[in-house]
Amino acid sequence: MPDPRPTPLPASLDKASIPRHVAIVMDGNGRWAQRQNLPRTDGHAAGEEALIDTAYGALAAGIRYLTVYAFSTENWRRPIDEVRFLMNFNESLLKRRQHELHAEGVRIVFSGRRTGRVPKRVLKNMDEAQELTKKNKAMTFNMAFNYGGRAEIVDAVAQLVRDKVPVNKISEKEIRTRLYHPEIPDPDLVVRTSGEFRISNFLLWELAYSELVFTDVLWPDFRREDLYEAIGEYQRRERRFGGLES
Ligand code: IPE
Ligand code: IPE
Ligand code: MG
Repeated sequence: MPDPRPTPLPASLDKASIPRHVAIVMDGNGRWAQRQNLPRTDGHAAGEEALIDTAYGALAAGIRYLTVYAFSTENWRRPIDEVRFLMNFNESLLKRRQHELHAEGVRIVFSGRRTGRVPKRVLKNMDEAQELTKKNKAMTFNMAFNYGGRAEIVDAVAQLVRDKVPVNKISEKEIRTRLYHPEIPDPDLVVRTSGEFRISNFLLWELAYSELVFTDVLWPDFRREDLYEAIGEYQRRERRFGGLES
């Protein structure tokens, strides 16, 4: 069990510029397992410890929002056995972990499509975790599940039409407020593990000005120290948002 208590941050990190929102593409589970001649699904299971340690590490660092990519709208293309495993695994992870996260003041929310192939019992379980933790303030833990960045934009546009927003009123704000979680600020930092240099349909709208950090570490090996290293890299970047350096 990872230690949920605050651990000292590395002295090299600037406590005054901890990213408010960190988003992570948890990638490399299959390769982690295959390297040890284990079935791919063992890699997903081993990712749980990485996830919990990272969540507590984020909490200890004072990160306010942590979004993790758990299942994409494209992951349905995988073999049925792996898809089934991922549905059951994410459901059981939530069931097993929601109480300890709740005890730490973590608010659990979800981003993604609720329609389609997600089993009803998984949705019910997600609703329960969300309900249990809805008043918590320490950190928001946003699980991107059956999530696609394009699907999110399509859903926002469909809502815009349903709301009969006149064409001359269509603006970034009108789209933004119809995304899955308009109350969550855009990610400051996006981390992708496993040495892949792509976005894979993650948070397409929200990451317009996020800093991107890529690491070779495979997700099951990722720990809070790797998160802190990514934050260190983030702090060495200069964010300009299209303007000039300050
Ligand atoms: C990430 O690990 C988990 C999910 C996409 C659900 P992968 O399963 O993509 O692992 P690799 O990329 O095949 O190693
Ligand atoms: C992105 O990883 C999705 C998740 C981590 C849930 P993938 O492994 O699905 O991405 P690609 O297929 O390598 O682009
Ligand atoms: Mg992958």
